[in-house]
Amino acid sequence: MKIPEKPRTTAIRLNSYIADCGVTSRRKADELIQQGRVMVNNKVITSMGYKINSFKDKVFVDGERINLSQPVYYLLNKPKGYVSTVSDDKGRPTVIELIRTHIKIFPVGRLDYDTTGVLLLTNNGDFNQAMTHPSNNIKREYDVKLDKILSQDDEEKLLKGVFIEGGRGTFLTVTYPTNNKKAPTVVSSEGRNHFVKNMFKALGYTVTALHRRSFGFLTVKDLPEGSYRELTQRELKLVNRILNNKR
Ligand code: URA
Repeated sequence: MKIPEKPRTTAIRLNSYIADCGVTSRRKADELIQQGRVMVNNKVITSMGYKINSFKDKVFVDGERINLSQPVYYLLNKPKGYVSTVSDDKGRPTVIELIRTHIKIFPVGRLDYDTTGVLLLTNNGDFNQAMTHPSNNIKREYDVKLDKILSQDDEEKLLKGVFIEGGRGTFLTVTYPTNNKKAPTVVSSEGRNHFVKNMFKALGYTVTALHRRSFGFLTVKDLPEGSYRELTQRELKLVNRILNNKR
């Protein structure tokens, strides 16, 4: 994973700087400036065409410091009823709406509209690529609810390999933490869309609820549904270490 380097210093128009930080378009940045929502250092700036020094000056939008290329990483406990995209042509709520930030972020991989649990969001394309690339084998753990009891035979098939759209898929483990054969927990290192549902569907089961309990070592154990937090520096170091070891 490559953390972006510091940008070059320049005198830059305030509206361009806000747009380059990924907050919004240049035109909308002008509106923010006019509305008195932008501060440079300790001063509200409302004049159009104002220039800043991108190394020295500190810029705030609605009180939040913004930076060029500042990478951000969020861990969300996704609730049901949100799509894991930046926008939705059907007008459904998106996970982006759950995160209060001016920085343009996107989800790392996808969870279905009705799936809950661990979802990472970032503005760092390298991080996204590293976490989702199949060669990195990042494990995902899912709590599943099925419409019927999972038979021993089918459990074995899921571990050996099942043919689904896009090719053969396998679960690495299938366990029953609550001793309920309708509620297995499965682990896979697959990121294909609808992977878990398609695996069960191939054997005639319907997934009635799905929760991603973990993604690598990241869990939402202490995060209520709909809440999020930034990844800690320690977590980011660990992610980096894991990914570097895999190279
Ligand atoms: N597999 C699915 O079927 N759905 C998800 O949301 C995640 C994994």
